[in-house]
Amino acid sequence: MNNQNSQSTTPPGIDITARRPTFDFSAVEKTWLADPIKSHFMNALSVLIPHSERIVMQIMRSELPCIKDPILKQQVQALIKQEGAHAGMHRQSNERLKQAFPAIGFFEKIQVSFMKLVMTCASRAFVIALPAAFEHFTAAISRDYLSHHQHWTGEKNNQAIEFVNWHALEEIEHQAVCLDVYKTQYSSGVAVTIFLDATHTHINLRHSIIFFA
Ligand SMILES: [Fe+2]
Ligand SMILES: [Fe+2]
Repeated sequence: MNNQNSQSTTPPGIDITARRPTFDFSAVEKTWLADPIKSHFMNALSVLIPHSERIVMQIMRSELPCIKDPILKQQVQALIKQEGAHAGMHRQSNERLKQAFPAIGFFEKIQVSFMKLVMTCASRAFVIALPAAFEHFTAAISRDYLSHHQHWTGEKNNQAIEFVNWHALEEIEHQAVCLDVYKTQYSSGVAVTIFLDATHTHINLRHSIIFFA
């Protein structure tokens, strides 16, 4: 799905594919990763993911008419399908989390209000930079999680871990797409760079977690 004339920088041989696996979270225990800190880190991330992915889908859908490159356009459409499936499964896992932590609903509302403000006040370049930065943020965490799987899971195996495995692999698969879309319209990467600096902090997050554990 890649050729030299395309604006896509997704490596050759990677075919972004929408998959729809299902997971049953009913028997997942509270400490589902190696320890409580890692479990709650991923829980907190999960709370923020459905609305973040909804924003990514919303922005990418609005950009579709501006994308002339057929390969990049097809990749954006596939990314939207993948994110739709991720958001749906995270909503399900978050419902299970809310049974144990009802205050999660309050944090979801704060996120929705904050993002509404950002989307209303920010420039177009900043808005298109948001998905590019978010996708690099999630890909950085995904790469760390997959590269140090035993560290994160403690060799446990459950449906929540299977769920994160699937999401992490697809995040790496479509990592480049939103940045490619941004670059079709803006050559300056200042807005993205600000977010990528934040992402760099999270690349080292595994070590921060060890420090605080
Ligand atoms: Fe995702
Ligand atoms: Fe993503």
